[in-house]
Amino acid sequence: MTFPFFLFYIFLILLHAPPCPAAAPGGSWSLLLPSIGISAMHMQLLPTDRVVIYDRTDFGASNISLPYGKCRPNTTDCTAHSVEYDVASNSVRPLMVLTDVWCSSGTLMPDGSLVQTGGWNDGDHVVRVYKSCDGCDWQEIPSGLSQQRWYATNHLLPDGRQIIIGGRRSFSYEFYPKISATENAPSLPFLVQTNEPDIENNLYPFVFLNTDGNFFIYANDRAILFDYVRNQVIKTYPTIPGGDPRNYPSTGSAVLLPMRIVQGEVASVEVLICGGAPKEAYINANKGKFDGALDTCGRITISDPDPQWVMETMPLARVMGDMLLLPNGGVLIINGGATGVAGWELGRDPVLTPLIYNPDCPVGSRFEMQNPNTIPRMYHSTAVLLRDGRVLVGGSNPHDKYEFSDVLYPTELSLEAFLPAYLDPGSSGLRPKVISPKTRFKVQHGQRMNIWFKVSCPVDPNRVLVTMVAPPFNTHSFSMNQRLLILEGGNTTTAIAKSHYKVTVTVPTSGNIAPAGNYILFVVHQDIPSEVMDDNALRIKWAPESIKCFLELFGRDQYCGDGYLSDDYRSQSTL
Ligand SMILES: *[C@@H]1O[C@H](CO)[C@@H](O)[C@H](O)[C@H]1NC(C)=O
Ligand SMILES: *[C@@H]1O[C@H](CO)[C@@H](O)[C@H](O)[C@H]1NC(C)=O
Ligand SMILES: *[C@@H]1O[C@H](CO)[C@@H](O)[C@H](O)[C@H]1NC(C)=O
Repeated sequence: MTFPFFLFYIFLILLHAPPCPAAAPGGSWSLLLPSIGISAMHMQLLPTDRVVIYDRTDFGASNISLPYGKCRPNTTDCTAHSVEYDVASNSVRPLMVLTDVWCSSGTLMPDGSLVQTGGWNDGDHVVRVYKSCDGCDWQEIPSGLSQQRWYATNHLLPDGRQIIIGGRRSFSYEFYPKISATENAPSLPFLVQTNEPDIENNLYPFVFLNTDGNFFIYANDRAILFDYVRNQVIKTYPTIPGGDPRNYPSTGSAVLLPMRIVQGEVASVEVLICGGAPKEAYINANKGKFDGALDTCGRITISDPDPQWVMETMPLARVMGDMLLLPNGGVLIINGGATGVAGWELGRDPVLTPLIYNPDCPVGSRFEMQNPNTIPRMYHSTAVLLRDGRVLVGGSNPHDKYEFSDVLYPTELSLEAFLPAYLDPGSSGLRPKVISPKTRFKVQHGQRMNIWFKVSCPVDPNRVLVTMVAPPFNTHSFSMNQRLLILEGGNTTTAIAKSHYKVTVTVPTSGNIAPAGNYILFVVHQDIPSEVMDDNALRIKWAPESIKCFLELFGRDQYCGDGYLSDDYRSQSTL
């Protein structure tokens, strides 16, 4: 090592934050668009690198017109209530939803389309499909659901379908697509037990697929492990200490913490729930008294035979926050308020400062304060991770209609990005740039794959992670189907030429660990995730190619098509 190079290396080490830093502020904000014409109440990143966004059709006229003078049938509303945001061009295109999508839910399907379910009024039994392409628009399936679904939670299943759980006055679950026209909606008494009359506190339940194939379902102050095939409660978890509610309208948020795969298994599957509101907060807020939000998080190993909650205290209390998994395994806690609850006019004191929770740091040094923004993101605000590591933030409308003046927290039509500190230019020397695979590719469960990447500074193989993130559907402070896996083999990184490295990782072996679908792949070096590639790259997509294809094969084989890497990747991997 030459002397100047040595100096350079030391310099970088000093510049780079240690893995478990003291709570120094970090990250930055940028305003992307002052108005997208609607208020971003629901968002989903699509494999086309566009984000489909919608609010509601019973809102009055939005600030963006439908194209070609179109109007919704049987209304005088000729404005859009859904748009597609194109990340690359930073622009929006208006879309048309026909029926009311207010407070609905959805999941990205294995074929790359968003399948959205329910809403209100004329929309409460409707399923809508959005396949992203240049001229695409929503398609509606009028009686796609057997029950009304309003404030429900969806999740992708290992068989390629999705489950839709609960919703206001819907104490049941169902699937989409249905295997037969007579497939019904089995009841789920847990949703009755956790429902407080006239308050609820159990809507948009927090739902995560455990690696044993059962669902962890959290509502209000407690959780069950649920076998949706046999309609059986497998396990009842202890109630969360303090007993305060965490679901709508006492809205907290939750994530399945990053799952590290070792010898094909995830040794411990953990859930983290943060924020919410005290028991009386909803009743008090309706009387004009705004109680302080919860400043606690509960962490529980859901796969443990004797699971217990471990409580932690956040540096800031928060209701209506969003929790997002970042590519390097950190948990971003963003948006929301410090007092009151979710619902029209019921929240106060915006919390403008995001936090990052580092799950592997010692208790007491897990929370890291971030730099604040200036735009309140209260009820009906959203946030999703983009493929380039930025976090798209939008929405906020605590009013019954669009209200732009003379109100607290006017309707927000703007879109901003939060850039976590890992995007700071100072880290560019540590940032991996993936050389191959360079376009979207398909893999099978259990497959080993090679990734070639470039880093300008020397790489420490023990500090390389390969992660894959399922892009979630976000609304009402919950990100449905959010999942991050740390693949086995990150430590096999070897140098193949100056600044060039190869790592061999294994794709998760089971659909319970990683349901077939779309993922974004990141190489993370010393906490810095790889930079985005030119061509919509780094997406793991398992067959089935389409739901139709899946249905044809249902019960026999979950794969459709060859399930191997694309020709593009195959030719590069023989380099
Ligand atoms: C939206 O339209 C309303 C009514 O025309 C106007 O008052 C408001 O300023 C617009 N808001 C934005 C953010 O464009
Ligand atoms: C519009 O109204 C007419 C008459 O009530 C009805 O037949 C038609 O189905 C409606 N169209 C839609 C799309 O709701
Ligand atoms: C990588 O880590 C695994 C699991 O800890 C270990 O078994 C394996 O030997 C390590 N491989 C290398 C190349 O260090």
